[in-house]
Amino acid sequence: MLRTVRAVVRLRRPQMGRTGRRLRGAANVADLRRMARRRLPGGVFDYIDGGAEDESALARNVEAYRRVTFRPRVLRDIGTVEVSTTLLGRPVAFPLVLAPTGFTRIADPEGELAVVRAAGRAGIPFTLSTMGTRSIEECAAVAGPDARLWFQVYTWRDRSLVQGLVERAAAAGFEALCVTVDAPVLGRRERDVRRGFTLPPEIGPGTLLDGLRHPSWTWRFLRSEPIRFASAQGAAGGDGSTAVDLAEYMASQFDPGLSWRDLEWFRSIWDGPLVLKGIQSVADARLAAEAGVAAIAVSNHGGRQLDGAPASFDLLPEIVEAVGDRVEVICDGGVRRGSDIVKALAVGADAVMAGRLYLYALGAVGEPGVDHVLNLMRSGMERTMALVGAATVGDLGPELVDLGG
Ligand code: FNR
Ligand code: LAC
Repeated sequence: MLRTVRAVVRLRRPQMGRTGRRLRGAANVADLRRMARRRLPGGVFDYIDGGAEDESALARNVEAYRRVTFRPRVLRDIGTVEVSTTLLGRPVAFPLVLAPTGFTRIADPEGELAVVRAAGRAGIPFTLSTMGTRSIEECAAVAGPDARLWFQVYTWRDRSLVQGLVERAAAAGFEALCVTVDAPVLGRRERDVRRGFTLPPEIGPGTLLDGLRHPSWTWRFLRSEPIRFASAQGAAGGDGSTAVDLAEYMASQFDPGLSWRDLEWFRSIWDGPLVLKGIQSVADARLAAEAGVAAIAVSNHGGRQLDGAPASFDLLPEIVEAVGDRVEVICDGGVRRGSDIVKALAVGADAVMAGRLYLYALGAVGEPGVDHVLNLMRSGMERTMALVGAATVGDLGPELVDLGG
């Protein structure tokens, strides 16, 4: 009898591994976040998930999208919905750019390599952080011929180090340089302060219990090669291989004197497109456009820097109005659903950028999780466009949304 039941169950269920079964239960980004919370040690999850101070900017980024309602149109022949578009003059399968995140290997030992491969399969760009834990060359080596890789720079006080990284990114075929401008000092992430969290995480007496509660993460962390800034080895102030307090490290290593004048220096060492990430006002958007950058990422660093920062989405209308005809505008932070991409594009963004959604997926189940979340984002975008009556990205406009309060 039992055998018959088992056979029927087997027949009913297609062959599906453990990862497949877990992913079937992950219907959205919130589910992946819950799975990551269970799998990762508390300190690692909090570093990824948390924001600065009261985490109000982090919450605002997400809520801004929830507040928007659509004004859907019907009977518009959405027999074929096309989500592809162009960004920096090249095609993207759908307008999502994977944001730079430092220390990605704390979520999964494959780290950035898993994300580069998944982004390639999805046909969207991936941005490697200066504080990335896989090197420029390692990422380029696993990227397919059509892959789009961007390199994000933090400006070390030692400019020769920056120049060296930028030259390596160019040699490895990276397409764009993304200069992050919202982190002259590190925001105060109080979850990390409370835990005394260091990067890379240390498995010491304080974290041992946490490690034991998350054996699969701990086992893989201890077995894999040590986490370090893979591109910036040899940096005078340390290459991230010894545990550091991130705020102290950034204050000692990165140049808080960075100013608009330095954009000329970036131009002199980089021939390709420049993307300025961290623009939060019309005045700075104008300065960026005058400086001739190709794109700006309207961003508050996912609410990890200035806690009183406005939601990126809320800044879009005025920034698009001021510079949308001169630079491409990317809206970064708070994106959790494919419908959020539709909302940002309706308001005039050319693309969105997102960080946590792929980190949750990576922390939850590794590389297949990243494929899964990118599929969710793409299919969510397609479905929403069908439901609002937009067959192409060009059909998205402000008449389709009500920005609410
Ligand atoms: C980041 N972010 C970031 N940005 C950057 O320019 N360089 C970096 O090294 C990092 N590191 C980093 C680590 C982690 C764990 C997170 C969550 C974020 C910010 C990132 O690029 C992006 O701006 C935000 O993640 C966008 O917000 P969402 O999508 O996470 O809500
Ligand atoms: C962060 C840094 C690495 O947001 O940008 O944690």
